[in-house]
Amino acid sequence: MKTTLATLQQMVENNEKFTVLTCYDAIFADILENAGIDALLIGDSLGNVLQGESTTLSVNMEDMLYHTRCVARGSTKAFIIADMPFGSYQISPQQAFDNAARLLAAGAHMVKIEGGKIMADTVQFLTQRGIPVCAHIGLTPQSIHQLGGYKLQGSTDKTAKQLLDDAKTLEKAGAAMLLMEVIPAKLARKITHALRIPTIGIGAGADCSAQVLVLHDALGLYRIKKPRFVKDFMAGAGSIQEAVSNYVSAVKTGQFPAQEHEF
Ligand code: KIV
Repeated sequence: MKTTLATLQQMVENNEKFTVLTCYDAIFADILENAGIDALLIGDSLGNVLQGESTTLSVNMEDMLYHTRCVARGSTKAFIIADMPFGSYQISPQQAFDNAARLLAAGAHMVKIEGGKIMADTVQFLTQRGIPVCAHIGLTPQSIHQLGGYKLQGSTDKTAKQLLDDAKTLEKAGAAMLLMEVIPAKLARKITHALRIPTIGIGAGADCSAQVLVLHDALGLYRIKKPRFVKDFMAGAGSIQEAVSNYVSAVKTGQFPAQEHEF
């Protein structure tokens, strides 16, 4: 049976965590969903892991459309989320709608955009026009030059409050999910409890409604060094399918992320 937004919302209401991995092509879409992954994210992290760039900033709409089509062709049941690349949604809600519509036509079921309160009008514009949106806060890699590096966000009282306010505003604007990247586990728990929509964590502790990892990280393929919040699920697994099923059961049973993966 096809996994829809309603399926994922129902899982959260039933206190069942859902699982997400990034995915960029058809064969992995097939492997991941057969291993029990609920949602596939065509992340603009493809700029790093496929294209060898040091940031996601050069990823464009053509890249995202190509990989979204590849994943959609290989998938029969997972919920598909596509990242909106840098520069494809920040100018105006109209620009965001035009590009999000292209991603949905390519096979995505939801788009993900980075940014806090400043994106609320855009989130509202898209959701009122039938496009489900996942908002992404915390470490937002498209703002890397403003953030000054890939580092923990929301670690002071002031920035933690800002993130909580952002989350509430984005939910009010209509976001159907919230992804939180590299923030303290305690803050992610507080935000998750303050919202009704599902939260997806990456480096945000175990108390989010769902977890995501970059596929290559989860399979132990890092170019530099393993980030703290990553676990290599290939270690001890006999196949990629087994590694991914181990990730699925570790998330569902609350064993991943463990304390050693949190901030
Ligand atoms: O592009 C990406 O891979 C992401 C991560 C947060 C999973 O957005």
